[in-house]
Amino acid sequence: MSDSHIKKILVVGAGQMGAGIAQVSAQAGFGVLLVDALQASLDKARAGIEKSLAKLKEKGLLAEEPTEVMARFKWASSLSEAKTFAPQMVIEAVSENLSVKQKIFEELDALLAPEVVFCSNTSSISITKLASFTKRADRFMGMHFMNPVPLMKLVELIEGLSTSREVSRIVRGAAERMGKTCVVSKDRAGFIINRILMPMINESFFVLGEDLGTAEDIDLGMKLGTNQPMGPLALADFIGLDTCLSILEVMHKYLGEDKYRPAPLLRQYVDAGRLGKKTGIGVYAY
Ligand SMILES: NC(=O)c1ccc[n+]([C@@H]2O[C@H](COP(=O)([O-])OP(=O)(O)OC[C@H]3O[C@@H](n4cnc5c(N)ncnc54)[C@H](O)[C@@H]3O)[C@@H](O)[C@H]2O)c1
Repeated sequence: MSDSHIKKILVVGAGQMGAGIAQVSAQAGFGVLLVDALQASLDKARAGIEKSLAKLKEKGLLAEEPTEVMARFKWASSLSEAKTFAPQMVIEAVSENLSVKQKIFEELDALLAPEVVFCSNTSSISITKLASFTKRADRFMGMHFMNPVPLMKLVELIEGLSTSREVSRIVRGAAERMGKTCVVSKDRAGFIINRILMPMINESFFVLGEDLGTAEDIDLGMKLGTNQPMGPLALADFIGLDTCLSILEVMHKYLGEDKYRPAPLLRQYVDAGRLGKKTGIGVYAY
């Protein structure tokens, strides 16, 4: 099998990441089935994708008509549709929660043919562990997109203990057809990107919690002082504070070092339901 055998992709989870992954997949010419347990997530994803395609067209960045891209989509609120859709590849992008992901992979493993390639967009959870919930550990890989997916160039690829060379090539090929550039990380909690990014975000919550400066000054300081396009608190809002907390918890647990312990203020925001841009309020109001 080569990446040219990939014609149809099942994307599970239609949140900020799943919607973006589905969009770039359809733009690359793949047929896409987008599944989410919540109809509201599917509706929001569809509206967001339509808006994004219209904007790309307006800027001259989309060769086809948006309607042609939309015609490649199917939508479903149950995984049982996956069997009839018969994809060659799955990309899972549900919430950063091990048991939720486990259930999905067990169900899909029973539903789909053994040669179908499984990928997870997890930010931190062990790919080897997720692969162990299936009977296809050699055909399982981490495919970590960046947010917002249609704009960000990078995909971080993570090979689990048993991922085959062939599957690694297939997944890289699919990512490149989506216009992405890949880096490869070994399978350790947080991989490369979040291993470096999350301690900075976490520290910005410690700094805010200790009242060293205002949120605005922390972000402006890091933007202008370290040449980043956005400050760490704004970036955390954009990622989702619940997602940041989950990633830090996984890193803390599996890397076993105190330096990854989540800042109490970050946890408080999540307890308050202030999850960032997706809920309209996090550190900032949107
Ligand atoms: N937010 C980021 O910047 C970012 C970046 C890279 C990777 N990720 C990873 O991508 C994944 C998704 O993150 P997100 O930011 O899109 O989260 P999100 O909260 O925006 O979306 C998660 C979606 O999963 C759906 N879902 C939950 N349980 C489900 C189930 N059992 N079946 C079907 N759908 C289910 C929810 O309804 C929701 O629509 C996580 O693993 C996260 O770590 C996030």
